[in-house]
Amino acid sequence: MTPSQANATHPPDAAAAHPVFAAQVLEGLSARPKRIPSTWFYDHRGSELFEQITALDEYYLTRSETALLRSLHAEFSRLPAGAAVIEFGSGSSRKTPLLLDALRTPASYTAIDISGDFLRQSVRGLQLRYPRLDVHALEADFSAPLQWPPALAAAVQQQPRIGFFPGSTIGNFTPEQAVRFLHGAAAFLGHGAQLLVGVDGTQDKARLIPAYDDARGVTATFNRNLLLRINRELGADFNPQAFRHVARFDPAHSRVEMHLMSPAPQTVHLLGQRFRFDAAETLHTENSYKYPAAMFQRLAIAAGWTPQKHWLAADSDVALHLLQA
Ligand code: AVJ
Repeated sequence: MTPSQANATHPPDAAAAHPVFAAQVLEGLSARPKRIPSTWFYDHRGSELFEQITALDEYYLTRSETALLRSLHAEFSRLPAGAAVIEFGSGSSRKTPLLLDALRTPASYTAIDISGDFLRQSVRGLQLRYPRLDVHALEADFSAPLQWPPALAAAVQQQPRIGFFPGSTIGNFTPEQAVRFLHGAAAFLGHGAQLLVGVDGTQDKARLIPAYDDARGVTATFNRNLLLRINRELGADFNPQAFRHVARFDPAHSRVEMHLMSPAPQTVHLLGQRFRFDAAETLHTENSYKYPAAMFQRLAIAAGWTPQKHWLAADSDVALHLLQA
């Protein structure tokens, strides 16, 4: 680093303390259009804000999928007994009991999430609720290849494996990333496994936009919290109030996009570099793909899975797909 780059406004060890975050934010702010991967929303505050989003009137996804899961009790009871349930992006694990209560004597539950403290908290709650279940937490970014800790692998591989990926979280991947994830999940879960995936197929803009731009502004706060996290962890000087929350639907890509838009020109400093925003320039913070059933099945097949069944919610286009490895 040259002396002119050494900037006293950020802790010199910020990049060292959060190397992956620093690298991805620097890369994204240097790209055109500017972007940051949506995985970085979920610090502790971001996870809390997402929990608030799931309770909003406009955010139909959680309510709708929860009712759907409840209605599938008899279907789940026909899945293999003594299973190892493995949940991707478990978050608060609030939907997990809807599956565990329907299965016949599940043997183990492994929660995988990127937000460590949230993960440990929810896994503790589940262990209390299911004292005889063998409960594990795996703090990991499941958008990258996953590996079993050796101690866990031995036990779980003897049990029929059921992957659980609710919440339409798969929509945060691009279709190419989704195929890569599904392919990796098949390898991780192993031969003969099944996977339950929640997928939102809504195409109605009038329903989508309020869900991602709610009247109380909780989603806007969730979006801007990313800038506060960058300030705190990487020593940047973003003014979150100088950015407007934007949600739009792109029917050509079948996705909702979230952006932070700078109404006026401004410059932000981060890790010794300056990033200029032109008037109306946006920072793209999230994609939420909306796959109708046939479109999702094509992705699953491309990743080597066989679609077995799918069920649609009564009050939305949220679906649950059962895949077989
Ligand atoms: C957690 C990815 C399912 O895309 O609907 C909610 C995240 N973003 N509101 C979604 C989110 C804005 C959510 N997922």
